Amino acid sequence: MTVAVYLPTEEKIQWWVEMLQGLLPGWEIASIDSIDDPAQVKQAVVWRPRSGDLANFPNLEVIVSIGAGIDHVLADPKLPKKVPIIRTVGDDLTQRMREYVALHVLRHHRDMPRQLQAQEDKEWHAIVVPVAPHRVVGVMGLGNLGAAAATTLADLGFSTRGWSKSPKSIQGVDTFSGEDEFDAFLSGCEILVNLLPLTDATTGILNAELFERLVSGACVINCARGGHLVDEDLLNAIESGQIKQATLDVFHVEPLPNDHMFWEHPSITVTPHVASQIDAATGGRLIAANLRTFAETGTCPDMADAARGY
Ligand code: NAP
Ligand code: GLV
Repeated sequence: MTVAVYLPTEEKIQWWVEMLQGLLPGWEIASIDSIDDPAQVKQAVVWRPRSGDLANFPNLEVIVSIGAGIDHVLADPKLPKKVPIIRTVGDDLTQRMREYVALHVLRHHRDMPRQLQAQEDKEWHAIVVPVAPHRVVGVMGLGNLGAAAATTLADLGFSTRGWSKSPKSIQGVDTFSGEDEFDAFLSGCEILVNLLPLTDATTGILNAELFERLVSGACVINCARGGHLVDEDLLNAIESGQIKQATLDVFHVEPLPNDHMFWEHPSITVTPHVASQIDAATGGRLIAANLRTFAETGTCPDMADAARGY
């Protein structure tokens, strides 16, 4: 029995193989490209697997996503359809996302880009903003990360609302669900945080129509997936003043190409998919535990629902 490992760089593959080998003594862990007998592979641990890689293993029993999202696995058109997928989540990932969302919401709330510009211009310009309870912040997606982010914002005092597929109840957060309540959720939002999974239903959801439904001069923070955003629509919405500032952590192509307009745009902050990268050592321990639990019981608490897309 072999666990196949794939990540997009050789260095990372080696690191993960060695770490998982240390955590799972007695198991055989190997880089996907070094496997001689594909029939021996029962588990695969992957981030952005190449198309066809997983279809090569006729006895594959489970796929582990090194991360919360499983869109990068489902993107493979040759993916074996019935193999269950485990995602990697945990306190570490949630804590990092809470920090990122709090940092960037506060930055937009306090208009830090304009304040920093004033410093550069040696201008004594006191920017007074409403107190947090008078600032409406919306979080799209109320799963592990979205619910934690919304709770953090509510604890900071923001007038916080959240939107999910099914109804939710989160203390201090006004919750909305489904298409029917999407308008009511967006209307009045001044800072919008996206923490949806990338699925057929959510691809391109951050588009011109959505931006128009926010308060004029709203800020947008996308820390979910690049595929949620229609890049051109954001640039146009900034140009028209409908959107004042955006923070983008994720992009259609990563790394963001050198010639992409986002890099030098004065109203866009680019971070390199770091909102909540799981610490590899912590992630390794979670994955090893999930592999063991799945081998013993045929399931584990972090199973994703491939049919649903997250
Ligand atoms: P999750 O636990 O699977 O939660 C997803 C949430 O989105 C759920 O509340 C779900 O509603 C809601 N949702 C899904 N489809 C919807 C739709 N069509 N309309 C309305 N709501 C919908 O996901 P998570 O662990 O919080 O992670 C969210 C995403 O963050 C991941 O998929 C990944 O893409 C991204 N991420 C980014 C980073 C980074 O560093 N930038 C790090 C980790 C994750 P229900 O609860 O009703 O099903
Ligand atoms: C990171 O983007 C993840 O999905 O965990």
